[in-house]
Amino acid sequence: MSKTLQAVRGMNDILPDEAEIWEQFEEIVRNWLHSYGYRPIRMPLVEPTPLFKRAIGEVTDIVEKEMYSFEDALNGEHLTLRPEGTASCVRAAIQHNLLFSHPRRLYYQGPMFRHERPQKGRYRQFHQVGVEALGFEGPDIDAEHILMCARLWDDLGLDDVKLEINSLGSSEERAVHRAALIAYLEQHQARLDEDGKRRLYTNPLRILDTKNPDLQDIVEGAPKLAEFLGEESIKHFEGVQAVLKDAGLPYRINHRLVRGLDYYNRTVFEWVTTRLGAQGTICAGGRYDGLIAQLGGKPAPAAGFAMGVERLLALWQESGGQAERIVPDVYLVHAGEEAQRAAFRVSEMLRGTGFSVTQHCGGGSFKSQMKRADASGAPFAVVIGDDEAAAGEVSLKPLRDGGEQLRVPMEVLPETLADRLIESEEDDGSI
Ligand code: HAM
Repeated sequence: MSKTLQAVRGMNDILPDEAEIWEQFEEIVRNWLHSYGYRPIRMPLVEPTPLFKRAIGEVTDIVEKEMYSFEDALNGEHLTLRPEGTASCVRAAIQHNLLFSHPRRLYYQGPMFRHERPQKGRYRQFHQVGVEALGFEGPDIDAEHILMCARLWDDLGLDDVKLEINSLGSSEERAVHRAALIAYLEQHQARLDEDGKRRLYTNPLRILDTKNPDLQDIVEGAPKLAEFLGEESIKHFEGVQAVLKDAGLPYRINHRLVRGLDYYNRTVFEWVTTRLGAQGTICAGGRYDGLIAQLGGKPAPAAGFAMGVERLLALWQESGGQAERIVPDVYLVHAGEEAQRAAFRVSEMLRGTGFSVTQHCGGGSFKSQMKRADASGAPFAVVIGDDEAAAGEVSLKPLRDGGEQLRVPMEVLPETLADRLIESEEDDGSI
């Protein structure tokens, strides 16, 4: 016997019980995004590899070791499964001239791909909800992004999520800091680990982000970017903080927050929780004023963030969040040839008047069909036998509250069902 095929490691099936939770989450997220005036955009999952190299940076974990890149067998093009959405979103905005007349508030959601070592909260195919505000200059949009996250955590009833912020300054300020940092790290070169040595001249800022405990004292003593920020950058960062303080939103300035993608400048932020183990960052982002020009667009400022849906849902469930099971209004049971024909008519009539109906398919006795009806979670069964079909009637049988069964003409079924559904919801206390 051949071995059964399995999903690719780190790429998960989301089965119906869980997928229903995803759908409800997606609806909450969509309403939340619309309430802030963001509009959807959908980009391809595959992009030219140079897009990510240019946007994210050649010397980053993502580009160096995590991209699913391949050559198109037909034309030799170098392609990559998107590891994130910002680069694609900016590429699309440039390609379609979206910033022609006014700035844009955009969002996207969907799978991203990174060849990381899978563990709880870290997958090779994972999902993000991403938000990008293109063409906005001031600190107000940075603050809007942070406040909107806080509102979503509130809507989802999440606690234990903490905000960390930092400013990475301008590229000129970073260049001066970088020179000072290299000079400092050169003094400790012998003690640097392999990654550190490799990054010393290519991406020294990332060395500050190391998890290696042996390097912590070096990191602690390193020149801080904050000391190199100019007046404009300081003003911008203070502008963001003023809004957060006005809103009473607690935050911590983390000077070591540098992010793993190279396009950021000025404000960066992360939302972290201690309740998910090692993979505690549920949402992250910041300003990237240089990226649009870097990808060939007319220079324009921008900022955004993305959250990890798997992590957010894990935290939502940890915090007692529960999705309601989606059940049909009616499970339609039928036996007999005439009854089956009537069943299709009745099901379509009910759907046409706004009810959800699961029609029994696949035959079986009344008894076995009633078992399925019960398992479906529907509050009512509509039962059609040949005698009901011949009389143009149906039986409406309550499945939950033990109420009496009614026999009614088919054409009054929608009205009767509507009344009975309201009654049963009132009895339930659900309205
Ligand atoms: P990122 O920090 O690479 O930023 O990813 C954002 C979030 O995606 C993370 O905080 C985490 O919740 C989730 N995430 C990342 N990798 C994985 C993984 N392997 N498994 C599960 N979840 C993961 C970005 O991607 C930027 N594009 C965010 C942004 C948008 N900045 C500006 N605009």
